[in-house]
Amino acid sequence: MALWGGRFSQAADQRFKHFNDSLRFDYRLAEQDIIGSIAWSKALVTVSVLSYDEQKKLVKALNELLVSVQHNPHQILESDAEDIHSWVEQKLIEKVGDLGKKLHTGRSRNDQSTTDLKLWCKSEIQQLISAINHLRQSLVNTADKHQETVMPGYTHLQRAQPITFAHWCLAYYEMLTRDVSRLQDTLTRLDVSPLGSGALAGTAYPMDREELASWLGFAQATNNSLDAVSDRDHILELLNNASIGMVHLSRFAEDLIIFNSGEANFVELSDRVTSGSSLMPQKKNPDALELIRGKVGRVVGALTGAMVTFKGLPLAYNKDLQEDKEHLFDALDTWLECLDMAALVLEDIKINNDRCREAAKQGYSNATELADYLVAKGIPFREAHHIVGEAVVGAIAKQKALEELSLEELKAFSSVIDNDVYPILSLASCLAKRCAKGGVSPDQVKMAIENAKRQLAI
Ligand code: ARG
Repeated sequence: MALWGGRFSQAADQRFKHFNDSLRFDYRLAEQDIIGSIAWSKALVTVSVLSYDEQKKLVKALNELLVSVQHNPHQILESDAEDIHSWVEQKLIEKVGDLGKKLHTGRSRNDQSTTDLKLWCKSEIQQLISAINHLRQSLVNTADKHQETVMPGYTHLQRAQPITFAHWCLAYYEMLTRDVSRLQDTLTRLDVSPLGSGALAGTAYPMDREELASWLGFAQATNNSLDAVSDRDHILELLNNASIGMVHLSRFAEDLIIFNSGEANFVELSDRVTSGSSLMPQKKNPDALELIRGKVGRVVGALTGAMVTFKGLPLAYNKDLQEDKEHLFDALDTWLECLDMAALVLEDIKINNDRCREAAKQGYSNATELADYLVAKGIPFREAHHIVGEAVVGAIAKQKALEELSLEELKAFSSVIDNDVYPILSLASCLAKRCAKGGVSPDQVKMAIENAKRQLAI
């Protein structure tokens, strides 16, 4: 029987019941619902709805239920209860009889469901932060090993200037650091308890909601009951965080897919994260990375879906809000899984140092160096840029790199060029010159790795 059966003389149509019920997805909130119920029972003692003895009995039964759902959460799915709140209440009544029927005094599923989900979000944020930190750590470890692995850096996917594999790793480290900070910001705003807001107008029992909030580990209680039961900003923020995080992971995946291509051959992915073709025996496909790249679609889709669902809803609670959960669960599960996969890919990736260096030497990625050299000899940059452009065309025609041109050949483009140009054109010099903060010079990269290690140790 539904919790609200008294008002109805006909049973719900089975198809409507299936359409309306949320147990098949909100069963994941069982622990939070029980913990919220324990706190609520304490509040009911403070307003003399429950005696201390009654509350002790309820807490004992709720704790037993907690252990049982922790042990086997899927048992919940065998029930035909409408949602997790109904299920917990039903189980409680089975255990303690009529006393269980007192627990819902002054409470509504409207404040209960948003409280449960906020509690779930708080622990999920911690899990996401540790998964991101794990990947940040893998990136720093990889960077540490590859401080001397020179490779081409790209703009427009054209070889632009040499970088190191370490510097590439640290770029993703920065993105992931921002992802953590976004989650922390979200956590600060969502850490406010709606419990005790009733259905919409507040609970009729004069309890201390701040104290109730603190029992649940929230920083404070919400200020307005209408807002409390209908606010889903935290869902939107988390979906936004997940979308940005997935955009980062998709770029990471795409870079590695390119590096792993037969054309680039900079890296080799392990057999543990690749798969074969049913037709072409030679193939080893970067499926883990392609799925990471692909799954960003469903996460951004969840954000868009939730935005549209919440748009234009009148205050306060409407059943539309039940739609918050599936979007969120799917998006955050996906994000967690992709973070884990990205770390796995990185764990035993092989970097082909020789091939990376060879590619860095090609593509005239030291052309900027020659221009800077001319500037140092007194030629205005715009003019130097033009001269080097001509030198590149000349070198291409001779199928040579700039540093392979003889001094005579180079002098044909500008008479100020001398023998001291050759060391300037080396890869080592290209890297060392970029020594301002955030640049690719070995010293800067070393410092960035040390800073990252220090951040991760906190
Ligand atoms: N299952 C519902 C949800 O997730 C619980 C709230 C139901 N409230 C109501 N008045 N029908 O939103």
